Amino acid sequence: MFENKIIKNLNNQLNLEYFTSKLYLEMSFWCDIKNLKNANIFFQNSSNDELKHMNKIFKFLCDINVLPIINSNISLNINFNSLLNVFKKAYINEKKITRNINYISNISLKYKNYKIFHFLKWYILKQIKEEKILKTIIDNLIFFNNNQKDILIFDNLFLSKYI
Ligand SMILES: [Fe+2]
Repeated sequence: MFENKIIKNLNNQLNLEYFTSKLYLEMSFWCDIKNLKNANIFFQNSSNDELKHMNKIFKFLCDINVLPIINSNISLNINFNSLLNVFKKAYINEKKITRNINYISNISLKYKNYKIFHFLKWYILKQIKEEKILKTIIDNLIFFNNNQKDILIFDNLFLSKYI
């Protein structure tokens, strides 16, 4: 019974990775329209990474004989008004993912489900890296004015380091 609760949350995590992949893909489209070449690549890569995170959970659930359930009714609230706004939304989303991973880790430990806790360790460490990159980009982007010229310079000079 306890395992069901943990698995339900792990399945939610799978869908959160799926949602995130779609969100980052949409962000990459927005960057493409704004001619932000490196930001476009950054979010395309991120979108692909999120699919890998999702597939890792798929594989794990199948390995423990649980059929994963995909929530196909994912609706994105897309309303981006600047590159800074895009990165801030990505950062907020990663914080949400971290909270969810921590929650599942917590209940896995509480109910002594060490195999799931062990599986989640990779995600715990991954989230530290994901948050750090986005925070670094935001902290640097904040110093740039929101005009096309400055943002293009930021895209060319700074974001090239992260793709
Ligand atoms: Fe992820």
